[in-house]
Amino acid sequence: MSDVLDDLRRHPDLEAPNLYAVDATDRLVLDEAAPLLTGAPDGSVVVVGDRYGALTLGAVSRFAVTGVRTHQDRLTGELALRENAERLGIGGFTEHGLTADLVAGARVVLLQLPRSLDALDEVAALVAEHADPAVVVVAGGRVKHMTTAMNDVLGRHLAVVEARLARQKSRVLVASSPRPAAERPTRRWPDRATHAWAEHDGLVVCAHGGAFAGTSIDIGTRALLAHLDEVPQTTGTAVDLGCGTGVLAVALARSRPGLTVVATDESAAAVASARATVEANGVADRVTVTRALGTEKIPDASVDLVLLNPPFHVGAAVAPAVARTLFADAARVLRPSGELWAVWNSHLHYRPTLEQVVGPTRQVGRDPKFTVTVSTRG
Ligand SMILES: C[S@@+](CC[C@H](N)C(=O)[O-])C[C@H]1O[C@@H](n2cnc3c(N)ncnc32)[C@H](O)[C@@H]1O
Repeated sequence: MSDVLDDLRRHPDLEAPNLYAVDATDRLVLDEAAPLLTGAPDGSVVVVGDRYGALTLGAVSRFAVTGVRTHQDRLTGELALRENAERLGIGGFTEHGLTADLVAGARVVLLQLPRSLDALDEVAALVAEHADPAVVVVAGGRVKHMTTAMNDVLGRHLAVVEARLARQKSRVLVASSPRPAAERPTRRWPDRATHAWAEHDGLVVCAHGGAFAGTSIDIGTRALLAHLDEVPQTTGTAVDLGCGTGVLAVALARSRPGLTVVATDESAAAVASARATVEANGVADRVTVTRALGTEKIPDASVDLVLLNPPFHVGAAVAPAVARTLFADAARVLRPSGELWAVWNSHLHYRPTLEQVVGPTRQVGRDPKFTVTVSTRG
């Protein structure tokens, strides 16, 4: 009999013969959770961190679960789930933010373990506070990405954490018994830090658990900020592409009172963080934050400036392809003579790609780790 997991695609994410829409962790989580999913009441199952829909669509089609609530941080993953569901004619789920409505009263939570412990902490805190007291969390990951610190994080919020046997290099942690409020950590999301750093003294960074660099300022971002004075003093519109917590957008807005900034990111945690950062720094009247793939919501040739610190954690094989797509996104929205200011890991040698995709490219800074360039749209 054909299984839904064999028919899933990654689209609109990159597709290639060595990139898969379903991994051994998805299969293990569904198998380990089978006794809980069989006969699960309507609305009692929640899926967090599904990559391309395997957990959600697997729960619905294999176990006839209805009213599944899902949260995916990446917009790409959300779109892939929707496309897979539509193509295969499967419904029965609703999408939610990482908020109380996602987990209120939940009895089963299927989770693809995030790499970041802070991201895990935020999910575990939400579950412990809002799920049914009988909730069981079935959390899976690749063994090579798992550490016992994950058990500790889960254990701060749920009193019972049990590691199951690994299978095909994946393992599941099963957590239950939410701790009473008095025993749980008092840390609240988004977290917040005020920086005292050169001309960015007083910059407040707010971060949800899954946001890149948390409340700190990434060293690549610092390398770009070190050249902020050289960025044109335009009063038009700038884009912070892949804004993370919004550090670049806010630093730019603070230093250029006439400028309007659009900050975009595909990550739900990034967008929620950037909105909080923008608010905390008092620039919400000039900085708008949107969840989008690249610059998809911005018209062609409409902006003067794009700042970009492209992702490099996406894997050695795909990072250049992701960066190239973002360079092309920047090129599309820049007016003629508009500038893309980018910082990237020096070993990635993006300059020829920038020349080709955007236009003439000048190096404004370089050290063994980071290169900062400005590319002018022809
Ligand atoms: C290296 S981080 C930089 C974050 C922030 N600009 C900073 O400097 O701290 C890259 C960011 O790009 C986002 N991102 C990756 N691919 C994206 C895409 N196709 N569209 C929008 N954002 C994307 C990631 O979610 C991440 O927040």
